[in-house]
Amino acid sequence: MEATAIYNALSTTFPRGEAFFVESVRAFRDGAPPKLAEEIKAFTTQEAIHSREHDAFNKRAAEAGYDLSALEAQVERRLAVTKGKPPIVSLAATMALEHFTAILAHQLLADPRHLAGGEQEAADLWRWHAVEEIEHKGVAYDTWLHATRVWPGRKRWKLKARVMLYVTRNFVVDRTAGALELMRQDGIRGFKAWRMLLWYLWVRPGMFRKIAGAWLKFFLPDFHPWDEDDRHLLAAYASIASGDESKRKVRRAA
Ligand SMILES: [Fe+2]
Ligand SMILES: [Fe+2]
Repeated sequence: MEATAIYNALSTTFPRGEAFFVESVRAFRDGAPPKLAEEIKAFTTQEAIHSREHDAFNKRAAEAGYDLSALEAQVERRLAVTKGKPPIVSLAATMALEHFTAILAHQLLADPRHLAGGEQEAADLWRWHAVEEIEHKGVAYDTWLHATRVWPGRKRWKLKARVMLYVTRNFVVDRTAGALELMRQDGIRGFKAWRMLLWYLWVRPGMFRKIAGAWLKFFLPDFHPWDEDDRHLLAAYASIASGDESKRKVRRAA
């Protein structure tokens, strides 16, 4: 129950959130070295498809009776903060959130307990998305490195660290509030809802606890997302993906 609420709350952020990632990274494509420009193109294609798939997933949740409007409005409010700010701020937010997504994706694929007990269709969507997040996890970061290549290291680190702390606070607060709201719609309220949610996120399976170390590495001066080589998780996925998942991946990539 709490797992469904958390993943549904997370899914609510993707249609608009990933459209924002696409715009933020695409703004730096002109002038990028050819290899990076190609990676940006592949990144924007993958994210645009994620956005669409999660939109369809969210519509099914809405049809099943969940009211997602408050959660969606909160996403809009968060994204509105970047309006009128220089494009590098949106890129920094994207780069930080892409690290967040990549470490969540890593955990999701590395430990089957995170998706255990849920519906097969939802688990398939999350695994497929997680694989693609790992595939492109370095792109927003490389775009950021390129865009800030003339910045002094200290200035670059300061903005990166500030933005990461800001988006992390919002992520934890908003996803917790979103999950509590969806649990409330399922009739679970108050202390019981908090206890279930905190236990699930921090204790068992403990997603937030398990990503804490990888999250901290972001603050190392020489950090790069590919310092953690998790391609073995992609290979493992390819070997276990059901026929439908493989088809989805091929169809989407076409
Ligand atoms: Fe994505
Ligand atoms: Fe992504």
